[in-house]
Amino acid sequence: MEGGYAIIRFVVLLVLFGIGGGSEAGGESDEKVYIVYMGGADGSLGNELVASVTRRKENGVVHKYKHGFSGFAARLSKEQAAEIAMKEGVVSVFADPLLKLHTTRSWDFLTYQTQVIIDDDDHHHHSSSDTIIGILDTGIWPEAPSFGDKDMGPLPSRWKGTCMNSQDFNSSNCNRKIIGARFYANDDDDTDSSARDSIGHGSHVASTAAGCSVSDASYYGLAPGSAKGGSPSSSLAVYKVCSNFGCRGSAILAAFDDAIADGVDILSLSLGSPATFRPQLTSDPIAIGAFHAVQSGITVVCSAGNDGPASNTVVNDAPWILTVAATTIDRDFQSHLLLPGNKVIKGQGIHFSNLSTSPQYPLVYGESATTGSANLAEARLCHPGSLDGSKVKGKIVVCDGKNDVYSTSEKIETVKESGGIGMVHVQDQSRAVASSYGAFPATVINSKDALPLFQYLNSTSKPTATILATVSVSNYKPAPQVAYFSSRGPSTLSNNILKPDIAAPGVEILAAWTGKEGAEDVPEGKKASPFNLISGTSMACPHVSGVAANVKSRNPTWTPSAIKSAIMTCATQNNNLKAPITTDSGSLATPYDYGAGEVTTSGPLQPGLVYETTTTDYLNYLCYIGLNLSTIKLISTTLPSTFACPKDSSSDHVSNINYPSISIHISNLKTYTVTRTVTNVGEDEEALYSSLVDAPSGVDVKLNPDKLQFTNTTNKLSYEVTFSIASLNEAPVFGTITWTNAKHTVQSPFVLTN
Ligand SMILES: *[C@@H]1O[C@H](CO)[C@@H](O)[C@H](O)[C@H]1NC(C)=O
Ligand SMILES: *[C@@H]1O[C@H](CO)[C@@H](O)[C@H](O)[C@H]1NC(C)=O
Ligand SMILES: *[C@@H]1O[C@H](CO)[C@@H](O)[C@H](O)[C@H]1NC(C)=O
Ligand SMILES: *[C@@H]1O[C@H](CO)[C@@H](O)[C@H](O)[C@H]1NC(C)=O
Ligand SMILES: *[C@@H]1O[C@H](CO)[C@@H](O)[C@H](O)[C@H]1NC(C)=O
Repeated sequence: MEGGYAIIRFVVLLVLFGIGGGSEAGGESDEKVYIVYMGGADGSLGNELVASVTRRKENGVVHKYKHGFSGFAARLSKEQAAEIAMKEGVVSVFADPLLKLHTTRSWDFLTYQTQVIIDDDDHHHHSSSDTIIGILDTGIWPEAPSFGDKDMGPLPSRWKGTCMNSQDFNSSNCNRKIIGARFYANDDDDTDSSARDSIGHGSHVASTAAGCSVSDASYYGLAPGSAKGGSPSSSLAVYKVCSNFGCRGSAILAAFDDAIADGVDILSLSLGSPATFRPQLTSDPIAIGAFHAVQSGITVVCSAGNDGPASNTVVNDAPWILTVAATTIDRDFQSHLLLPGNKVIKGQGIHFSNLSTSPQYPLVYGESATTGSANLAEARLCHPGSLDGSKVKGKIVVCDGKNDVYSTSEKIETVKESGGIGMVHVQDQSRAVASSYGAFPATVINSKDALPLFQYLNSTSKPTATILATVSVSNYKPAPQVAYFSSRGPSTLSNNILKPDIAAPGVEILAAWTGKEGAEDVPEGKKASPFNLISGTSMACPHVSGVAANVKSRNPTWTPSAIKSAIMTCATQNNNLKAPITTDSGSLATPYDYGAGEVTTSGPLQPGLVYETTTTDYLNYLCYIGLNLSTIKLISTTLPSTFACPKDSSSDHVSNINYPSISIHISNLKTYTVTRTVTNVGEDEEALYSSLVDAPSGVDVKLNPDKLQFTNTTNKLSYEVTFSIASLNEAPVFGTITWTNAKHTVQSPFVLTN
């Protein structure tokens, strides 16, 4: 895909998890919406409770869940909620949370450019695909060129979904690309009752997953080219669960419930709770909905969150979810600073200004333009109110940004208000993620590159400069790099499961937008663009959803865990310099940054071996993390009658569930053994795999057996991995286990952590 840019600005309110959770009905201000989760039993279980709520209050019930799992959402007082929590058959009752979209946190990034992954010719051979990708997001803008259905076959016969009518969206907006569109009653904004996307985010992620090929895509002429989703032959089922205010947990659960009944194959969620307000597993709508979706054979792909680079920030980290981190791509948007004497200083950013190409504009350092009352440090950083208009007017202002809380866009406002005509922001924070500044000439320079600028400022009494027009640079190296905003492991849910699982492009991704004139994200003096460039793990997630759809088309009988395993074990850990992938600060990336690595597109179609994680694995997991058998029996209806929690269930055993990666929490033991089982899904029933271990120093890793011979009667084989720790000065440490034959390489990362 080729690119452009834009400012995005969602009105996303502070997400207070569980607080102010619901709407108030009829002035009874102590009432709010609660979710009553009743596990996997058939929907009639909740009928009596629903009836009792309705008796008390006619419109008290907001949603009923009855297809994939049971329960309901209702307006209740705290006392009523507590009372219901005690009833038989109720797993959990929790205030309806407000989740947020996983676009970048400061809403003012921009400037990389995506091409939807690399070697993707393969799925042209599968245009008969009838894979259905469900998108839980802000709805869809059906007129966007990415949603044309010219190359699509007839509706999949098993499709049972619907295209809901509203004033600005009806069945004529659905086609063979958008085969279904639902929206959910929304107490936060009751004017927004339509599947139409008024924000853009939902259209963006949907087109990244399954948009058709559009040949003349660009963002206002920047980086023109063709735009195409990861699985152009897949169709889309739209579930609008988010408004301008965020995404309600009760609506997310309703969408999961519908999607299970409608017959989707893949679900893609680019939203979640913030890392600091993460819920327990049994009151996490995404974990609950995804569990039942996976039980129904649906692969669930979610964004990891944008709370990086701090560790322990990954969300959507239940083991049945495929959790996606974000990386850069090989394009950059640059706006250089030009000093007299033809001295060019490299800068990042997108702007559409018309400054002359000659360095004729006066330049001033914020520190030299301080108002009498502001201190030097504030003026150096261009904080609000710190600049003296008479010293700034008509000039390009240089602002420092070390350890600063104000974003580039906020400083632009300060400079503009003081009469400045351009801004240079010196900072290292946003690194590879450049931003869009609309009509105002601005650029971001890192502190190392800024040295000659400061020398120049010191050397002359009348410094001048100009900011050059934005150019897009392709084949940028190194790429990918893990974006600094991408949420990191280890998982706080359980550090015996490695999260995130995989990484994919999430920086300045070009994809469909709303085309709504006058929207806030349209740069001054421009018409709305049908494409937008935005960043976030939100954008990474649908890339993987597209790959998952292609794997499913090629292998229709595969379980969600087989699809996930294929995607993980075929990931790459190298960048386009054939060197190990780094983060955008230049440090070596680890599996806590990118899971198994950067997603590839053709490998996962034929992975050779897969790690299948069974229902029993997931139920054991629930035992290990401390749920009791009676709760687990409610959650899973397919529970074999013989199922019992393993004796001595403890969180350490989580390492033993059959996951495509390995994470072990080490204490003072010296030796750890885990078991894994692989299934041969290769072309040949007879296949001999040998092993390769890359172990960190101080750790001995033994595989038993260290060769796997598959035959026409044996397509599943188990092996043990024993980690012997001789000496470990620091943890976590990382390594890989690889099974190979002539055709396939099946690689799993492992981590030992304390
Ligand atoms: C659907 O909307 C279009 C455009 O607003 C309108 O022309 C058409 O009559 C509507 N169709 C139905 C079935 O309501
Ligand atoms: C730059 O020039 C173009 C063409 O003359 C004009 O349309 C546009 O508004 C100008 N932009 C700014 C920021 O002045
Ligand atoms: C510029 O001058 C200031 C004040 O004399 C000094 O602190 C700073 O180090 C100088 N910067 C450079 C890059 O020479
Ligand atoms: C199982 O756990 C639930 C939730 O913590 C609790 O209410 C219930 O009493 C427990 N049941 C048993 C049999 O221990
Ligand atoms: C499996 O392969 C062996 C040896 O190649 C062959 O003799 C046998 O008939 C095969 N069995 C099946 C069930 O295909």
